[in-house]
Amino acid sequence: MEKRRRPAAAAMLLVLIPAASRPPHGIVAATESSVQNSEQSFGFNLTLAKTIVEYASAVYMTDLTELYTWTCSKCNDLIQGFEMRRLIVDVQNCLQAFVGVDHNLNAIIVSIRGTQENSVQNWIKDMLWKQSDLNYPDMPDAKVHTGFYSSYNNTLLRPAIANAVHKARKLYGDISIIVTGHSMGGALASFCALDLAITHGGNNVYLMTFGQPRVGNAAFASYFTKYVPNTIRVTHEHDIVPHLPPYFFIFPDQTYHHFPTEVC
Ligand SMILES: *[C@@H]1O[C@H](CO)[C@@H](O)[C@H](O)[C@H]1NC(C)=O
Ligand SMILES: *[C@@H]1O[C@H](CO)[C@@H](O)[C@H](O)[C@H]1NC(C)=O
Repeated sequence: MEKRRRPAAAAMLLVLIPAASRPPHGIVAATESSVQNSEQSFGFNLTLAKTIVEYASAVYMTDLTELYTWTCSKCNDLIQGFEMRRLIVDVQNCLQAFVGVDHNLNAIIVSIRGTQENSVQNWIKDMLWKQSDLNYPDMPDAKVHTGFYSSYNNTLLRPAIANAVHKARKLYGDISIIVTGHSMGGALASFCALDLAITHGGNNVYLMTFGQPRVGNAAFASYFTKYVPNTIRVTHEHDIVPHLPPYFFIFPDQTYHHFPTEVC
């Protein structure tokens, strides 16, 4: 089988992997904010972060057969014992995600990819013109970015992920759910984690994103923290995305807010 990747995908992987494997002052700092609950405890340490970044990275693969069968050269090397349960490809919206079970961590993994790099410009432009202008349902004063929310809510992602997680939990019991994504995928992962936390309970859901842009206003961020307390956002100074949107200083009243547990 041909292993060549499209340049855009390869570039995206290059952006992601060095940021994660560099002696990450950010990730190391995360060990201080380990999160726990009564049944299971995931210290968000470097080992766990390295595993999760592999999932966040794998979802960018364009060879869907390798991804689905988990036979890419890196896959089995770094994350053995992963059981792929559902691969979700929304061709129309250029979105991709998978749901599976990491038997070492005894957790369901949800990894979400945003649009490819060549369309990043589109959503940056979109952010400039459409700010956090959508009222998040059932959360007074909480506003979120329409583009990100729609990419999660109004595509295949939301129903397909919810269904796959539901089935995996029926099979394996109430194991933890780890949601991850890089860049725009991280933004979509946030909405997904919130959704899953509302359905399955916040103590069961862990969110770890890499280079995630802001998705909502301060009110939304504070609801988010309440519903998904186990959140770690890993950012990196060399990764342009978390520093967006650039109009941060231009429209101070409309400032997007990062969730509190931010690792820089
Ligand atoms: C890091 O986290 C993993 C997964 O939760 C755990 O198995 C491991 O023992 C932790 N390591 C340290 C040094 O805390
Ligand atoms: C989110 O999805 C639901 C179900 O498809 C739909 O009813 C609702 O209008 C969507 N919300 C937004 C803001 O698009």
